[in-house]
Amino acid sequence: MSDSKLTVTIAGITGRFARLLVKYLLKKPNIHINGTTRDTSKAPASLSNNSRITLFQATTEDTEGLRKALKGANVAVYCALGWHDVMLDGQKKFIDAAIAEGVPRYVAGDWTSDFRKLKVGDHEGKDDMKHIAAYLDERQDKIKAIHVLNGGFMETVFSPFLGFVDTEKDEFYIREGGNIKSAMTTYGDAAAVTAEVIADRNASGYIEVAGSLLSAVEIAKIYGQVYGVEPKLVDRGSFAEAKEQLAQLKKDQPNPYAWMGLNYQIIVWNGQNELDNADNARFSNIKFTTIQDYFQRVKKEKLATEMGEL
Ligand SMILES: NC(=O)c1ccc[n+]([C@@H]2O[C@H](COP(=O)([O-])OP(=O)(O)OC[C@H]3O[C@@H](n4cnc5c(N)ncnc54)[C@H](OP(=O)(O)O)[C@@H]3O)[C@@H](O)[C@H]2O)c1
Repeated sequence: MSDSKLTVTIAGITGRFARLLVKYLLKKPNIHINGTTRDTSKAPASLSNNSRITLFQATTEDTEGLRKALKGANVAVYCALGWHDVMLDGQKKFIDAAIAEGVPRYVAGDWTSDFRKLKVGDHEGKDDMKHIAAYLDERQDKIKAIHVLNGGFMETVFSPFLGFVDTEKDEFYIREGGNIKSAMTTYGDAAAVTAEVIADRNASGYIEVAGSLLSAVEIAKIYGQVYGVEPKLVDRGSFAEAKEQLAQLKKDQPNPYAWMGLNYQIIVWNGQNELDNADNARFSNIKFTTIQDYFQRVKKEKLATEMGEL
């Protein structure tokens, strides 16, 4: 990184990922952070009392407020999380505001598996990412896009929302043998990678990393070894059956959180959006947490709630 100051504007700075990103950015000299939140009075003291952070109150609709936060920034990062209004409409407004303020680089709200391999309709949340990637491609002469792909966050993969494992019963829910590998990285490691990419003024494009690349069967085996239990593999049927179930659920349930876990179980474990080119070696200063390290660090009873602790 050159000695000149780098200003980073983070949309959704109070979130789990954003706060970890802030932690890693602050370890670097000459970085100032602007952050948006819908309510500055609710921001944690760690953000509001830090002289290297300036908070701006702005909703995703508030172009004027977003532009104030983006003024003079070298990099814009989208860390807000929500449904289409936030991830698609809100993110487009943030990109437009960044372009209007002449911000040269943009980190998209991804931190996921390789959504480029999915078809539109496979997962509505990933559809938003595909649309945003296309939106950024169309504007590449104005702003350079960065997409960090890290697979699932370990903290999310073991939360009950995903329905992959029941840590009380030590049951892993698999389909079609559970032998397809999937990438996983901790929130913290993905944030450390993102901070490196932000600080490297020449970095752009797709960045792929993974703490572990393992199948459900392999994860269950390591879980058993680390926690000293006999995990059970429960076969939940074929991916085709799961897709039928998902289609019915989507008809019956307007609330996306009623079916999103099942949708993730399908795209994560059928290999459809797998990472092929994890390049951890590029980040030689980061010691990536493997699933074994993660199980050794987090008590079995805490696996389900770890995401909420971030
Ligand atoms: N690969 C994975 O397994 C995985 C898992 C989870 C997340 N992710 C990705 O990580 C990124 C960050 O996720 P996160 O878990 O850190 O998010 P989060 O903590 O749930 O939320 C981030 C912030 O979004 C803001 N926000 C929420 N609803 C909003 C709305 N309607 N309008 C504007 N802002 C809103 C909130 O800020 P204020 O209330 O302060 O405005 C919140 O602090 C996302 O891109 C997500 O896709 C990946």
